[in-house]
Amino acid sequence: MRFSKLLAVGVALASAAAAQAQTPSYKNVGRAPTKQEIEAVDISIGPEGKGLPVGSGTAKDGAPLFLAKCAVCHGTDARGGKIGTQLAASKADFDTLTTMKPVRAVADYWPYATMIWDYINRAMPRHQGGSLTPNEVYSLTAFILYKSDIVQEGDVLDAKTLPKVQMPNRNGFVPAKFEDIPDEHKRGCTQGVCP
Ligand code: HEC
Repeated sequence: MRFSKLLAVGVALASAAAAQAQTPSYKNVGRAPTKQEIEAVDISIGPEGKGLPVGSGTAKDGAPLFLAKCAVCHGTDARGGKIGTQLAASKADFDTLTTMKPVRAVADYWPYATMIWDYINRAMPRHQGGSLTPNEVYSLTAFILYKSDIVQEGDVLDAKTLPKVQMPNRNGFVPAKFEDIPDEHKRGCTQGVCP
């Protein structure tokens, strides 16, 4: 009984779709977005910092913010909590990247500091993405990098300085030459598939 009802709905939808396919007129439906509307959602930041807004912040500014808005999930020292992933990382964490149990925190794994800015800006705090000001995002990024010994507590991060931050794994992703890929057999890979 239930099944036949579903089937009937299915048939009805299919014929409605078929009818629509014959008359694809979308006149007067929607409109082209305005320049301002496109700008509002065009928030991608390039690796070299293209698109970073005016503003600045230091780890010192970021510390109280992190405690108030991020620590509940990512832990007070940014090393991961019950819900949020580990963000800050140490040299020891970085050294795990070439082992079978890599610690992929943003600070030891991500190749560009600008990616951290972009991610926080669009997606954090969780379920409240887009709620932070540029200054807050610069400060929080600085805090995570400071907790990872990548910048100093008072270093000012802005659109000019953030792209210059050298991330430890900057050159860890694409080998210059195919032959430079770390020995796949030793890592237990077969035919390009790794465990
Ligand atoms: C309600 C919990 C929660 C809060 C609050 C929160 N986060 Fe997150 N955050 C998460 C979770 C869960 C993820 C992993 C998301 C995923 O993988 O889809 C994440 C991911 C991230 C990442 C990327 C990590 C990765 O390795 O992919 C960054 C950076 C980050 N958060 C920063 C922040 C900052 C900065 C704040 C404070 C402004 C914050 N988060 C607040 C839960 C939270």
